[in-house]
Amino acid sequence: MQAIKRRDFLHGALATVGAIGLRDPIWALANAPNAVGALPLLLGADYYPDQTPESLWEEDARMMADFGITNVRIAEFAWGLMEPSEGKFDFGWLRRSVEILHKHNIAVILGTPSAAPPPWLTAKYPDVVEVNAHGEPLHPGGRRFTCPTNKTYRKLSLAIATEMARTFAETPGVIGWQIDNEFTLSDSPRCYCNFCRAGFQEWARQKYGSLEKLNRAWGTAFWSQTYTDFAQIPVPLPSGGDPNPGLALDYNRYQSYANVSFLDEQWTMLRKVCPQHFVTTNNVGLIDYINERDLYAKLDFVAFDNYPGFFKMLMEQQANSEAGSWDAILTMIAMSHDLGRSLKDGKPFVIMEEQSGKAGQRTFSPQPEKGQLRLWTYQAVAHGAMGVNYFRWDTATSGAEEYWHGILQHDRSPSPGFDEMRQTLKELKALGRDVLESQYVADAAVIFDYDSSWAVPIQPGHFRLSYLPQVTAWYGTLSPSHTGIDVIVPGADLSPYKIVVAPLPYVVSQAQADRIRTFVKNGGTFVAGFRLGAKNEFSQIVRTPLPGLLRDVMGVTVEDYVPIYSGKPGVTFSGALAGPDGTCGIWADILQPSSAEVLATYTNFSHAGKAAITRNSFGKGKAVYVGADLDPTSLARLLRSLAASAGVQTPLEVPPGVEMTVRQAGGKRWMFLMNNKPDAQTVKLAKPGTDLLTGRARSESIELSGYGVQVLQLG
Ligand code: GAL
Repeated sequence: MQAIKRRDFLHGALATVGAIGLRDPIWALANAPNAVGALPLLLGADYYPDQTPESLWEEDARMMADFGITNVRIAEFAWGLMEPSEGKFDFGWLRRSVEILHKHNIAVILGTPSAAPPPWLTAKYPDVVEVNAHGEPLHPGGRRFTCPTNKTYRKLSLAIATEMARTFAETPGVIGWQIDNEFTLSDSPRCYCNFCRAGFQEWARQKYGSLEKLNRAWGTAFWSQTYTDFAQIPVPLPSGGDPNPGLALDYNRYQSYANVSFLDEQWTMLRKVCPQHFVTTNNVGLIDYINERDLYAKLDFVAFDNYPGFFKMLMEQQANSEAGSWDAILTMIAMSHDLGRSLKDGKPFVIMEEQSGKAGQRTFSPQPEKGQLRLWTYQAVAHGAMGVNYFRWDTATSGAEEYWHGILQHDRSPSPGFDEMRQTLKELKALGRDVLESQYVADAAVIFDYDSSWAVPIQPGHFRLSYLPQVTAWYGTLSPSHTGIDVIVPGADLSPYKIVVAPLPYVVSQAQADRIRTFVKNGGTFVAGFRLGAKNEFSQIVRTPLPGLLRDVMGVTVEDYVPIYSGKPGVTFSGALAGPDGTCGIWADILQPSSAEVLATYTNFSHAGKAAITRNSFGKGKAVYVGADLDPTSLARLLRSLAASAGVQTPLEVPPGVEMTVRQAGGKRWMFLMNNKPDAQTVKLAKPGTDLLTGRARSESIELSGYGVQVLQLG
């Protein structure tokens, strides 16, 4: 079982706090400076004193304290006010704001402002802008339009961050830093400028050491692309034909690296100048542009942003239909929470921005329904968050986000969700230390692989095949109540899990194959989706029969791989899985078992009678190959049956729409039950428990109101 190392984190934080002469955990200061057994949660709001008349700051702080928040995050878009002209700094206003907040016991997370440079900067240094995938430069006027490699931009970003850090290193009330803002937010996630080209060439030189190795890794004999000088290496801009897949995959890796190293410069400085503060960065939930495992490697904890209602609206907008179902959104949200927890091996994370009202820019989502704001906040904590900041305190009356509604409305009156959020904070504070510090219990893991997610779109094989939807579908069907799943990267330790599933595992390196082999040999169950190991880590097709490096573990050979554009092959289950027939969607790997048993075969297809799903015994474990792109019902039946055979126990059967997580500490266990449906639902209990919020004993069943939440202590 994978343990959330909340205690380790808290001990670290306590030491930090001790080092600066404070007695309580940082997030307790705002509420109860001298309280014993203080609260281990950051319950805050994102606040914009830079966009608010100073005459209102005192009132804001008073209202925030009354609302119950412990902290704010501020200043991440205030570069222009902090450095009105190059090298001239003005932190007077920010200091006054921090002082007022501190007076009201509200702690401050400061954001470094490099996500939006001021106009003087882009006027003087116009080449700091990003160049998009069509070779066109972006323009100033928005945000996140700068190049991650550009040295001038890095120097200026580091300069303002350093000046901020020096100014606020010892300021009472300041507890930590957010570097930049949402590195993963972008209309065009990759920069293709000349600086990036030079950076890529240097990165490739470091990676491969010689042109001979690079040419071999990319297979540049194809289309006469042999490089005789690193300076000849292009970036994948339009070129009358698709780029070399090895180069294109490496370019994604380079862009990820460039962003991480941009962050690293500020991190190194902050660690030195402000050793007593925590340092993190926030991100858009499930976006795979940057390898977040690398991004957060040195940071104190993971932080990300969560806007369920906005995501639903966006989905509907993109599909131009009402397709954005809550089930799909909530699966996505649960998965990003589980990824957030898993990125640092179980360490608690923070929601740096949580939707607090109508949300959007040109168009916006409706006010969350009664109960949803509370539900989403609990969902974060249930999945392992140690903090939730509502976005935002007030609602902007100017700028692109005038319609992104906050806790206060435009006229500063309470928003429709005000009371619900206030009540939620109160409840969370009352939950008690041990539940908040308890460990998240997970027996299953889904592999989320950045290499595969970057390699698939370069050559998806089928125009409708993409990586993230496959991973989300497997995550959602493995456990519809989102119970007990970590979302891990391929390098993670597999040994804590009973079952590890890898949807669309297109790229498999030798190291990954070795890890999987050991996991299965030692008794684990590994379930692979179609396209297993079709590519090596250089994005070359492997020369051995598929599934390449894992052929012996899986006990099958892939006889053929087939994109499906018309018709739907059938899938008939047999043996232990005998049951209703299923269908195969857009992809079929045709399997030829060597030692594996057949669990399902294709029907109604040119490959009718051939194996679609197989299971192999290898060492003490099992390796299952799911060759068919199964319909959701069959995939759910398959994955759940495999999880049960692997020894994963569902603590409770819950009705559809009810989410459940289990946390444990010492001999105690807590169960979070969250009803994502508008109607009340009944959950039958397997064991008696105590409702933590009311103290009432529960034995037979509990009634969850529409969007209701219960936290039960079990023995
Ligand atoms: C986030 C971003 C914030 C704000 C918010 C609402 O993506 O970090 O700065 O833009 O969304 O749009």
